[in-house]
Amino acid sequence: MSEFLDQHQPEKLEHREALVDRWFSGTGASYDRVVAWTTLGLDGYWKRKLLASMPETAERVLDLACGTGIVLEKLARKYPGSQLVGVDLTQEYLDVAKAKLAAMGVEAELLHANAESAPLTGAFDAVCSSYIPKYVDPDRLLDCITPYLRAGAKVVLHDFTYPKTWLYRKVWRVWMWSINTIGPRFFPAWEKAFDKELVTVIKNTHWPREFMAAFERHGYVDIKRQNLTARSSMIVSARRP
Ligand SMILES: C[S@@+](CC[C@H](N)C(=O)[O-])C[C@H]1O[C@@H](n2cnc3c(N)ncnc32)[C@H](O)[C@@H]1O
Repeated sequence: MSEFLDQHQPEKLEHREALVDRWFSGTGASYDRVVAWTTLGLDGYWKRKLLASMPETAERVLDLACGTGIVLEKLARKYPGSQLVGVDLTQEYLDVAKAKLAAMGVEAELLHANAESAPLTGAFDAVCSSYIPKYVDPDRLLDCITPYLRAGAKVVLHDFTYPKTWLYRKVWRVWMWSINTIGPRFFPAWEKAFDKELVTVIKNTHWPREFMAAFERHGYVDIKRQNLTARSSMIVSARRP
């Protein structure tokens, strides 16, 4: 979780939920285009890396903060016939996901819930998420999902990080400034998300090291980190023994 969320919403789940509501409500219809455009297509590459880190086979898979179902669609192709469960706080996004999956002929269970307290059932072989780590408390998330993981199940998490070197930070800041300046003109519904708040959250998040430590506290093994694209995003994965 970022220090920003820590400082401004201390331990208050409802404040973090309010931030998600502020950023995402009214944006479901354009999310897929916006995420592709704002990352210059890198989102697709990062999600391919996320999928490549998932197990070869899985019967039941959980996607946390599944949003409009971009990852669920890929999971349906990677694991045909598997049971897919998606969790997200934003109903509007789940509606988009449901329509996309129905068009593919895929049935998935979509839960409108906070991933830190989702009413899960059954057992999962794999859990993934693109972009949830910076919004959540790692211990709470692992407390919630760990009882539902089969032995050997893998958890793969991806999210933005603040690049490490001076040069890449400079390029990143210019790019974020450009998005925040130009973005609202093309996508007015995103005005609240295209602001300094997102930059502050990404600059202050230490989610990779916080999740790696939380995985260790929860007894996970094979804890790994993969840097992507000049460390502008990362994948952290671990396995339940
Ligand atoms: C940037 S979108 C990512 C959607 C999808 N994972 C993707 O990669 O395309 C962030 C999503 O996280 C969801 N979200 C944020 N915090 C959440 C939480 N604590 N529990 C469930 N969903 C959450 C938001 O509702 C939103 O749909």
